[in-house]
Amino acid sequence: MNWQMSDESLNQKQLLVDESLFALGNGYLGVRGNFEEGYPENYQTIRGAYVNAFYDQATINYGEKAFGYPETKQKIMNVIDAQSIQIFLGDDAEPFSLFTGEILSYSRKLYFDQGFSERKIYWRSPTGKEIKLKFHRLVSFVHRELFAMELTVEPVTFNGKISIVSTIDGAIHNFSDQNDSRVASADETGLDVISSRTEGDHSIVLDQTHTSGLQVACVSSLESSVPSTKRVDSSKESVDTTLSFELTQPVTITKRSIYTDTRRHGEHPDEKGVAILKELRENTFSEMLEKQHLYLNDFWKTADIIVEGDSLMQEGIRFNLFHLLQSAGRDKFSSIAAKGLSGEGYEGHFFWDTEIFMLPFFTLTNPDLARHLLRYRYTTLEYALARARAMGHQKGALFAWRTITGAECSAFFPAGTAQYHISADIAYSCVQYYLATGDLDFIKKYGFEIIAETARLWIEVGHYSDGYFRIDDVTGPDEYTAIVNNNYYTNVMAKFNLMWAAKTYHLLKMDDPGLLQELADRLQLSDDEAGDWNKASKAMYLPYDGKLKINPQDDTFLQKKVWDFENTPKDHYPLLLHYHPLTIYRCQVCKQADTVLAHFLLEEEQDLETIRHSYDYYEKITTHDSSLSTCIFSIMASRLGNFEKAYHYFSVAARIDADNTQGNTKDGLHLANMGGTWMAVVFGFAGVRIKEHGLTLRPSIPEKWNRYAFHIAYRGTILAVEINRDSVNLSLEKGEKIQVQIYDHAQTIFADHPITIALEKNF
Ligand code: BGC
Repeated sequence: MNWQMSDESLNQKQLLVDESLFALGNGYLGVRGNFEEGYPENYQTIRGAYVNAFYDQATINYGEKAFGYPETKQKIMNVIDAQSIQIFLGDDAEPFSLFTGEILSYSRKLYFDQGFSERKIYWRSPTGKEIKLKFHRLVSFVHRELFAMELTVEPVTFNGKISIVSTIDGAIHNFSDQNDSRVASADETGLDVISSRTEGDHSIVLDQTHTSGLQVACVSSLESSVPSTKRVDSSKESVDTTLSFELTQPVTITKRSIYTDTRRHGEHPDEKGVAILKELRENTFSEMLEKQHLYLNDFWKTADIIVEGDSLMQEGIRFNLFHLLQSAGRDKFSSIAAKGLSGEGYEGHFFWDTEIFMLPFFTLTNPDLARHLLRYRYTTLEYALARARAMGHQKGALFAWRTITGAECSAFFPAGTAQYHISADIAYSCVQYYLATGDLDFIKKYGFEIIAETARLWIEVGHYSDGYFRIDDVTGPDEYTAIVNNNYYTNVMAKFNLMWAAKTYHLLKMDDPGLLQELADRLQLSDDEAGDWNKASKAMYLPYDGKLKINPQDDTFLQKKVWDFENTPKDHYPLLLHYHPLTIYRCQVCKQADTVLAHFLLEEEQDLETIRHSYDYYEKITTHDSSLSTCIFSIMASRLGNFEKAYHYFSVAARIDADNTQGNTKDGLHLANMGGTWMAVVFGFAGVRIKEHGLTLRPSIPEKWNRYAFHIAYRGTILAVEINRDSVNLSLEKGEKIQVQIYDHAQTIFADHPITIALEKNF
């Protein structure tokens, strides 16, 4: 059970949220869950369809511009709308709307196991005509350009003429909000309609962005299961296709829409769209559903987490994992936007969210997809090299804090460009991917260059003083503290980055000296430079406070006054919407996990006591205003044996979007948190870690749960993990044997020889 999310509400606020919750996507194309027939005039709606990394560009207008500020920013475009289907009943053409007449029953569902959404309506029109409607829609995982819809109309008391009007609309605008920095404000970006026309049975709309010159096309067809008369009306900006027939029996209407763009399909995307549609028209809607189902069967085999005894959390987990799959870019142009393809928040930009919060899920359940995501970063390396130069560094790569193509798009540098840690985060995830998969080919082709160029950045930005290697004037993950010296998170991640640069250098030297020579020539590398990386890594300064026995977040953090939480009204959270950044920077207050996150990613750097004291300290001053926070506090509460807290934070993370607890799900889903939910179970409750010496587990089980189970793809094997109230079962579903460390004891698991061990309650 719990393979679906359902909703029966027609409340205005919830409908806006539902547009994100019921969004469909496949990593290339995303369509928000808007009603086909539309909403009343006074309802706010964000009607949207997005092609991953399809963007326009705008000049950033600064009041006071300084050297090195990015000149332009990119923004994902809300593209051509193919969702519209309107229904008119009788000779008086009474329009169907859920906001007139009477709703005799209504439900909407999103099926995670089958990959489609459904709306079922039993409706009586204002003049008493009764019909039943069923809308099915899918964005295909198999044919990335395809958005398909099927409408079934069933007569109840009404028999007579019915007209179905399908629209493809090219005159589309993005949503903007001047008062919320997490949403885009209005600018000169946008789309112009180049042409709207019909060719045979196809409606074709072609749009072009104002500035970036990219084109997107939508080619659509409409068919009915009974003979009908057809009329086509094209205007300059849209094409309407009307099918009319006598409704005497249930009738199905199938609408197929193909999206193409110049980034993926080259010139004349409209012509490519026509060719794709011609091929796909052979598929019936049920065949498309069948393919979708098969794809998802495969996905869930390794991706699923089964939870027994907690159906709300089970629903939250599957909902989150399904949306992760829907959002992940699979080509060299795209990664996973902060909001996936479900909305326009954060302008469709890619952040560190992908590498630190989402990649672990893909690395350990779908390594091929993880490799694609890391490859995208590799394709942006040239921008990162150029950005480092613009920032005054002679060598190295500084990845953009937020971007689509790879170019820095952040206009607010204290919480943007200053987050240098993103470069170490990307290097860290390359190493994690390598350790989990053993994919040395990846390191050779892409990983080493990323790790080496980011290591160079640390040598550039850091300096030696008193024998320590220090890093000044950066911002850590906690955006409520900015431009500080020796942010613990940044330093410890840079330390890891430098150490692995030296390590992979020597690894390649041993494994493939020819390749290393080639790389060394191309990148001007030498043994000496690798030696410098090692030295800086070893000398890295990591702040420690002996009195509190914690790692201070940075050099001055503990000298600041603690934020006055007692006198902060509840409605003043998130603080960023109610206080000037400086007011916030001057206090000890955290938006999200920072040092606590560093302790999760690199736990061997500190003893457990320091980790525990730090957790207790930072927990008191963390607002979790960022959705990237509670999952990490859950993981670390598990690590510290505080299982009640671990469950509490996990339960918040699992339902952030499902229950709109951050209040901004309307702008799109919180994808990092969705990955974080998976991490809170696998890295948190089950205590999984990927280390150089292998796979380790330290399982626990939340009080409420009877059992939970999941899979891990590790070095070509698939390990099934099942945790019951008193025991842990491990079996190998693929591969010959695997070595794991469980509660610090080494175990070997062979194919067909599952092992069971007792669940330890205190550790
Ligand atoms: C968080 C960042 C995150 C960004 C996009 C911000 O609110 O503080 O860490 O990368 O959202 O999700």
